[in-house]
Amino acid sequence: MSKRYTITAALPYTNGPIHIGHLAGVYVPADIYSRYLRLTGNDVAFICGSDEHGVPITIKAKKEGVTPQDIVDKYHAIIKQSFLDFGISFDNYSRTTAQIHHDTAQEFFKTLYDKNEFVEEVTEQLYDAEANQFLADRFVTGTCPKCGNEEAYGDQCESCGSSLNATDLINPKSAITGNVPSLKETKHWFLPLNKHEDFLREWILKGHKKDWKPNVYGQVKSWIDDGLRPRAVTRDLDWGIPVPVDGGEGKVLYVWFDAPIGYISATKEWAAREGKNWEDYWKDEDTKLVHFIGKDNIVFHCIIFPSMLKAEGSYILPENVPANEFLNLEGQKLSTSKNWAVWLPDYLIDFPNQQDVLRYALTANAPETKDNDFTWKDFQARNNNELVAIFGNFINRVVVLTNKYYDGIIPAPSDYSTIDEETLAAVKAYPAVISSSIERYRFREASQELMNLARLGNKYLADEEPWKTFKTDEARTKTVMFIALQIASALAVLSEPFLPFTSTKLKGILNSNDNGWEDVSTKDILIQAAHQIGKGELLFSKIEDSQIEEQLQKLEASKKANEAEKKVTEPQKDEITFDDFTKLDLRVGTILEAEKMPKTKKLLVLKVDTGIDTRTIVSGIAESFSPEDVIGKRVTVLVNLAPRALRGVESQGMILMTEDKDGNLVFVNPDTSTALNTGTHGVNNGLQIS
Ligand code: 2FM
Ligand code: ZN
Repeated sequence: MSKRYTITAALPYTNGPIHIGHLAGVYVPADIYSRYLRLTGNDVAFICGSDEHGVPITIKAKKEGVTPQDIVDKYHAIIKQSFLDFGISFDNYSRTTAQIHHDTAQEFFKTLYDKNEFVEEVTEQLYDAEANQFLADRFVTGTCPKCGNEEAYGDQCESCGSSLNATDLINPKSAITGNVPSLKETKHWFLPLNKHEDFLREWILKGHKKDWKPNVYGQVKSWIDDGLRPRAVTRDLDWGIPVPVDGGEGKVLYVWFDAPIGYISATKEWAAREGKNWEDYWKDEDTKLVHFIGKDNIVFHCIIFPSMLKAEGSYILPENVPANEFLNLEGQKLSTSKNWAVWLPDYLIDFPNQQDVLRYALTANAPETKDNDFTWKDFQARNNNELVAIFGNFINRVVVLTNKYYDGIIPAPSDYSTIDEETLAAVKAYPAVISSSIERYRFREASQELMNLARLGNKYLADEEPWKTFKTDEARTKTVMFIALQIASALAVLSEPFLPFTSTKLKGILNSNDNGWEDVSTKDILIQAAHQIGKGELLFSKIEDSQIEEQLQKLEASKKANEAEKKVTEPQKDEITFDDFTKLDLRVGTILEAEKMPKTKKLLVLKVDTGIDTRTIVSGIAESFSPEDVIGKRVTVLVNLAPRALRGVESQGMILMTEDKDGNLVFVNPDTSTALNTGTHGVNNGLQIS
């Protein structure tokens, strides 16, 4: 039965392009789901847009010396284009700087205000006197009181997912000046989440939300069990939607108050354009609302936004919030600032027209139940071993043989064998199998079932060997090719949610666009005998090792750039006198023996002939030198350093070290002139102290 769905995908922040993590976590699964629902005859509004307010945008604008509007205009266009390029089939992609959104968000706020759903309170908030700015959200970082993460933001800890108030942070620091903030009084409007606790408990915990993904249900349950507190929904910032009530002058709505309302305004914009009634999609109890998000957005979509909707009173609540975990890249967390990412515009330059390959690799390895790793090797394997070797190979064989044997005209079959009957029955079962996975938000599983259908086709051809029977049994060959063409037609339909570009191409090759999802399980024939198909064209092509190597090198370059950036030049230490300097007794010594200190990574225990005596020195150089490397080396030794015990071994001096131009640790060697460039490990002096 046809149903109405409102499907939302998290509005991306408009402070940079989007990368594979966004695609895998939110947009590809949401697109598969929406395409599937449309194909199965449902009424779908698939909604998204740019999240253009909030501190990250202001920070980026400040950094680049432009206005926040310049930033959002630039990235809105780039992001919108990426979604188009990757076939993300939004019905509307709007933006939160649109007038319709400002009006909708202000109206929503006013309704809650008029209904006395806010608590108005003057509280002390963090303030950066130097920047003359209140510090909320990402303008302040500090230690998360819940998990100890030292890089938590003023509104959220990305490590444990907790939603925070800026004043909760331990050791807060201004992200603008680095200063420790002071406290200053200011008035704000708070949404009393505590007031909605009973409703949330009833709705999520006692309701039927146990079929939500365990990661979502578990997080929400633990927050509710911890007890909810009022949350400020206004901010003292100058970029955002003005607070539309008396006393709100100079203040804006909190970005997480306005952004989810963006789903509503984007639906309004779309409905006006399409001549539909937007309220059907947000206020009719029969409509199913589904939010696709990443796991860092769970609290906002499962606690705060539902509380807002409930407080307003006329809206439906989400049916499900299928949040994904995070995707890592080559074993490391994706990071915009560290350029540890695969950006969609860059991908398309390196792999033109290969959007479906990325969609498939990300779906087959989606972080649905735990964080997952994207590796370029896996990407290559998914393409070469599955899309090329299974899907593409099957289609290619069917199309080439049909053209070769029958000039592209589908032959009429004779009687079916048992294998034929079983194969056709197996094909008919696939829509239900794939549907069941998609409807349970198991997109990885669904994509593998699609590949199994292509496997079935390959096996059928390999077993029936039409290229052999062609010479001996004309009727049998025709039957086999007819059935293989039915499988190809099923693939053209069922691949659409996952591989939309391939599906379109395949329908073009088969010259057939008549079948729907249900037809694959109900019709006996999907493509008729005597129908003319087109010429073959390869659906997928092999990805070479050199292409993968190139991508890995790009990442290596990012890593190097990050390391170089991390290297801060230490400021000069306090001045010392010449007398202080002459206190250092530096000698030329020779390392006689060396061995690794057990159970440590860094320490070598050295026996050094200092010219005065032979003594033990423990040196932290084991990560750069093996014991064999250093035995016999002449070194510069500070001999009058007070002895100290390292791991129970008394160290009686210090070997002077420095770094070469490439940042490698080297000895301050009395026999070569070593240019010293840091004071970290050594002292810059001649050896003669007179
Ligand atoms: O995490 C983010 O990228 C946010 N911009 C998501 C917002 S979703 C919403 F509610 F609009
Ligand atoms: Zn935390």
